[in-house]
Amino acid sequence: MSPRITAIGSGKGGTGKTLIAVSLAHALAHQGERVLLCDADLGLSNASVQLGMKEGGDLAGLLTGKSSLKTAAVRVPCGARYSFDLLAAPPGAGTFANSGEAAALPLLATLESADQYDRVLIDLGAGVDGAVMSFASRADETLLVLTPDPASLTDAYAFTKLMLRRTGTRAPQILVNMALNVTEGRRIADTLTAAARSFLGIVPEYLGFVPFDARVTDAVRRQSPLLSTFPQTPAASAIEEIARKLHGAVRVALPVMGLR
Ligand SMILES: Nc1ncnc2c1ncn2[C@@H]1O[C@H](COP(=O)(O)OP(=O)(O)OP(=O)(O)O)[C@@H](O)[C@H]1O
Ligand SMILES: [Mg+2]
Repeated sequence: MSPRITAIGSGKGGTGKTLIAVSLAHALAHQGERVLLCDADLGLSNASVQLGMKEGGDLAGLLTGKSSLKTAAVRVPCGARYSFDLLAAPPGAGTFANSGEAAALPLLATLESADQYDRVLIDLGAGVDGAVMSFASRADETLLVLTPDPASLTDAYAFTKLMLRRTGTRAPQILVNMALNVTEGRRIADTLTAAARSFLGIVPEYLGFVPFDARVTDAVRRQSPLLSTFPQTPAASAIEEIARKLHGAVRVALPVMGLR
């Protein structure tokens, strides 16, 4: 059975995609899912840096056919009894910069057939280039990370439009990061939803918000996973809640399909 592929993108850079991808991997592993986190920021890989790991696996070897997924992924412990796997290129190498869809499509095919996992989280790079949009369009679900920065909204709209153009029907799910409170999160999500409804004829679902939280910056600077370092902090709780929604959606879908 194929894993559920969840891509995380934003268009705009620095919205918190990697922080959310790493933290969702941690939270979903704690909910019993076998998770692979793929750092698909092919030019500027940095998930392993946020995790404080010496190396994040051998994505380069996988893409050039020298490694299998089994040997290319590395295990990331997260708590005494839990772990997820990470597949990334070496940080600072810039190995796959500008490789575009030529690298994305074979990687997607490998991830789609990785049946040793329940879930593959794809941490996308900034921008809306061909590689980013092919990962976003082929995923089972695509989380679009917005922030209160007005440029994030316009970039997210472009992302939504390009995704619709490729898929014909699909809208991303909205996650608002760095919001001051629930009201601001909802307001930002509503602005994108209203534009998408009026001009594109689709209604992206609002998954929830993650508050601006100084502990996040602290954890990122320490290169220590947020959910291990500050498990009680509001941003960690919000990401756990979003992970529960994602996990719940899979558990509902599977019996309907008669597969589990
Ligand atoms: N909820 C939050 N509260 C406070 N700071 C945050 C929050 N989320 C992310 N940040 C900060 O934003 C910065 C960027 O985060 P991150 O690297 O995860 O973004 P990104 O979207 O992956 O960036 P890029 O586009 O470069 O890949 C980090 O320094 C992190 O500390
Ligand atoms: Mg990133």
